[in-house]
Amino acid sequence: MTDLLSLIYKKRDGLVLSADEINGWISSLTSRTPPPDYQISALLAFIFQKGMNEKETATLTEAMRQSGKQFEYKNFPKGALFVDKHSTGGVGDKITLPLAPLVAACRESLYFPTISGRGLGHTGGTIDKLESIPGLKIDRSLEDSYKILKKHRVCFLGQTKDIVPADRILYALRDVTGTVESIPLITASILSKKLSENLDFLILDLKSGSGAFLPKLELTDKLAASLSSVARESEVPCNVFVTRMDTPLGHYSGHRLEVKESLAILKGEGPAASTELTKKFTERFLIFSGFASEDAVKTIDRKIQTGEAFEKFKDVIEAQGGSLVKFEKAVKENKMKTKVITAKEKGFLHFDVRKLGLALVELGGGRKSKTDIIDNDVGFYHPFETGDRVEEDQEVLKIYYRDKKKLDDCLQVLETAVQIKIESFPKSPLIRKVLV
Ligand code: URA
Repeated sequence: MTDLLSLIYKKRDGLVLSADEINGWISSLTSRTPPPDYQISALLAFIFQKGMNEKETATLTEAMRQSGKQFEYKNFPKGALFVDKHSTGGVGDKITLPLAPLVAACRESLYFPTISGRGLGHTGGTIDKLESIPGLKIDRSLEDSYKILKKHRVCFLGQTKDIVPADRILYALRDVTGTVESIPLITASILSKKLSENLDFLILDLKSGSGAFLPKLELTDKLAASLSSVARESEVPCNVFVTRMDTPLGHYSGHRLEVKESLAILKGEGPAASTELTKKFTERFLIFSGFASEDAVKTIDRKIQTGEAFEKFKDVIEAQGGSLVKFEKAVKENKMKTKVITAKEKGFLHFDVRKLGLALVELGGGRKSKTDIIDNDVGFYHPFETGDRVEEDQEVLKIYYRDKKKLDDCLQVLETAVQIKIESFPKSPLIRKVLV
């Protein structure tokens, strides 16, 4: 059994951990006598502070990947291609939900197994969003997941005791110990999940701007380099998109509101930015599978217009135990109170997206401790983006809340999160760059 205390001292003093030490630590997490949470958290905190070099990061990623089973696609059709995308996280980032069924609807040979996470820090998690659909079950055996994947070519999964269990443990602790914003920990967390899927192609969506874990562009670039280098070493073809998170993505944030927006995207009725990003990623997957760019764009539009993309999502949700009918009913029955924030004067809207995310956690839309139960119905409607011109008294944010006390607590944060600037400033492009 690894003596975690000696690793804690070593990292505290800024020393490099050996491969044996990292492997011992990660395998201890799933042993019969795991280290206590306080020691794991202390080590995470020192890794957060002192960092890890490239070799340590690659070793940590591989150890976390090996903590669970690796995907094996036995008896899948010949020519099947397994693809996925992962985002570093943000506010209103629901793209995985419409993307997976849209990709599958567009190309028979593409399979989309996707292991996601729960809410992390100020960002919402794909798994929590999906679980806001009544009945939907993420935590299932790998064999069961293969069956769903084989039939529908999409399966939504989370970390379980079989699938990257080490990430499940570390992720939940990082969420509540202020240790999320670390390049090695983010790299290992994301790639341990994605590499265990045995993919043919991966898209990474790196968020930049005030709502990203690493808002400064130079740190985004470092994270891009770290992710690309570990992915390259493991020989998974990977494109890295750097996209803006200086404004929430789409018009809605909050679990059920984001599922609703995802359904709208699949019906061709979604907001511009979240629809565009969903289509751009889909196009990239289709090009990877052999489409010419023009054909890809036409196919995407057709599959949305004919309702095939929406049907695919519905089928996958039902295969995973969920019901969109019950979802609509739950939304209707769960009448939320609303509070509108208007522009105090005319000018240019500016969101501090991280603060928006923190306010959402405050309202009950995220966890402050590991055992917190999420309120699926709280959230925001944000019809404008950072940099948009707004008039005095125009609605810039609608808050859906349940508990007045929680609303009052989050209003203080929102005061500084939503601002009007007199001087205009350039809007960031949705996609800043693509590294192929
Ligand atoms: N997404 C993950 O899966 N892990 C992180 O650490 C950050 C974003």
